Amino acid sequence: MGIQWFPGHMRATLRALSERLKTIDVVIELLDARLPGSSANPLLAELIAGKPTLKVLNKEDLADPARTAQWLQYYAARQATRAIALHAQMAGPARVLVAECRRLAPHRGGMAKPLRVLIAGIPNVGKSTLMNTLLGRRVAQAADEPGVTRREQRVALADDVYLFDTPGLLWPKIVAPDSGWRLAASGAIGRNAYDEEDVALALLRQLQADHPDRLQARYRLPGTAAEVAAQPAHELLQAIGRRRGALLPGGQVDPHKAAEAVLGDFRSGALGRVTLETPQAFEAWMAAAHAAEAQRQAERAAARASRRRDAPPSDAGV
Ligand code: G4P
Repeated sequence: MGIQWFPGHMRATLRALSERLKTIDVVIELLDARLPGSSANPLLAELIAGKPTLKVLNKEDLADPARTAQWLQYYAARQATRAIALHAQMAGPARVLVAECRRLAPHRGGMAKPLRVLIAGIPNVGKSTLMNTLLGRRVAQAADEPGVTRREQRVALADDVYLFDTPGLLWPKIVAPDSGWRLAASGAIGRNAYDEEDVALALLRQLQADHPDRLQARYRLPGTAAEVAAQPAHELLQAIGRRRGALLPGGQVDPHKAAEAVLGDFRSGALGRVTLETPQAFEAWMAAAHAAEAQRQAERAAARASRRRDAPPSDAGV
């Protein structure tokens, strides 16, 4: 499945970010708890290597608690890293962040050495929401379409704690197709960059494997959960379209509308708390994507070398 996605001003953002990081003590990396691995930006990982990092699995209210626990354990095993799960709209838990940041940089604090924290994360992961909640007011416009330009924010969380927003937009960098459809399903990618039907079909396949009972309950599908799990995904999408009245004028199912219904239900939590990936599965497909990329590079290099060998000798000197 192709996702046409181009990281707009990524280069400029990364430059600004790397400048800003020089004066930052702790990075809060906001991840989507429903797809923690896929919602991380590998370019950010390179930039913040070695910096104390707090991984925040946001939207935990929409994620499967057992899988969230697995991801927290996975991140906590890393050097100079702490990890928490969060529902960014809730004020109480959000305050835990400041305490966690202080733990990551115990040498900072007090008016002479204020703690400087940066929030980074891909569009729609909840950065503005979290900043608003931490401050108890609205500091930035939350937008439902990724790509809405924002200005950098700096806010004081305490006399000696400053919080900065990412300078510019940090688009997700899609390395593996398995991450691509998950990012699209979560709402992190602009609507025009992917085919909703493709993404809904990929999502349905995952839900058939993990939660066929919920599909059956939500869409009142006939047959057993095992039968729902075994159905070809496109037939399932048809059945869902019929149930939801996603029909074309002639009465046929409109697959686009049916796909929108499935994606909307996933995003709103109407299909229950779902996490689309485990650390093990994520690592496996990333390793496969990197191996495939290495092979592509090697093949390209071999083709270039063979073209050079076959080229007629230069006629210079004739
Ligand atoms: P961003 O700054 O990183 O781009 O993300 P933003 O805060 O704008 O959040 C994107 C959407 O995610 C918003 O929904 C926001 O309410 C929602 N959101 C953020 N954190 C959480 C969370 O922990 N749990 C849940 N369930 N949702 C969260 P929206 O529908 O686009 O806007 P709004 O109408 O809710 O403001």
